Amino acid sequence: MNKEEIIKKTAQYIEKTFVNSHSGHDWWHMWRVWQNAKLIGKTEKVDMFIVEMGALLHDISDWKFNSKEDSESGTQARQWLQQFNLDRKTIDHICDIVATVSFKGASSTVEMKTTEGKVVRDADRLDAIGAMGIARAFAYGGSQNRLMHNPHEKPKKHHTTQDYVKSTSSTINHFYEKLLLLKNLMNTESAKRIAENRHKFMEDFLREFYSEWSGKI
Ligand code: ADP
Ligand code: NI
Repeated sequence: MNKEEIIKKTAQYIEKTFVNSHSGHDWWHMWRVWQNAKLIGKTEKVDMFIVEMGALLHDISDWKFNSKEDSESGTQARQWLQQFNLDRKTIDHICDIVATVSFKGASSTVEMKTTEGKVVRDADRLDAIGAMGIARAFAYGGSQNRLMHNPHEKPKKHHTTQDYVKSTSSTINHFYEKLLLLKNLMNTESAKRIAENRHKFMEDFLREFYSEWSGKI
């Protein structure tokens, strides 16, 4: 099977796996991250096959629906990749990206070692900000029974992953706890540029939200 066919088959597998998954981890999230990754990847010196496969598989070993061990070694991704005639180095590289994207241990951010990994991580982060990020945050908040906003509750900085995972704060607070921080965590120049616009859009949204909330309009 050639690389183009492997990508196509992997996209079909991911669509089938995530089609019934909701609250931000649906197939269309994987699809958007794949498109973002291709766009960013074009401006970097990368192996596009690794980028596309890493993007498609990036949530397959997520810690929320895998054991800690499987998540940290990208087991699910490896099982899928082993059926193809790919060399060991390529498989290890893709699994390493998947495992690092998923890992939420220690202080959450483990550096991506390669440019391909940085592209995939940026592509995933871009889908958490801007209009897409706003929509996903409220969809996720609703699925967790979170309030949209509670004016009595101030945003908190989470110092550990446990704190972050246990947090039950409002969706508006999630903007301060995560979404507004992502712009400065982009690795590639093109993602930084795209993130600027998406960040501004969220700031405008918040301004309008508070204004309508307080009945000022
Ligand atoms: P991914 O693994 O794809 O990077 P996450 O699993 O962290 O994303 O979250 C999925 C989506 O749900 C993201 O858009 C994220 O911002 C949103 N989300 C996660 N936690 C919260 C929360 N506490 N409140 C609102 N939205 C959240
Ligand atoms: Ni993701």
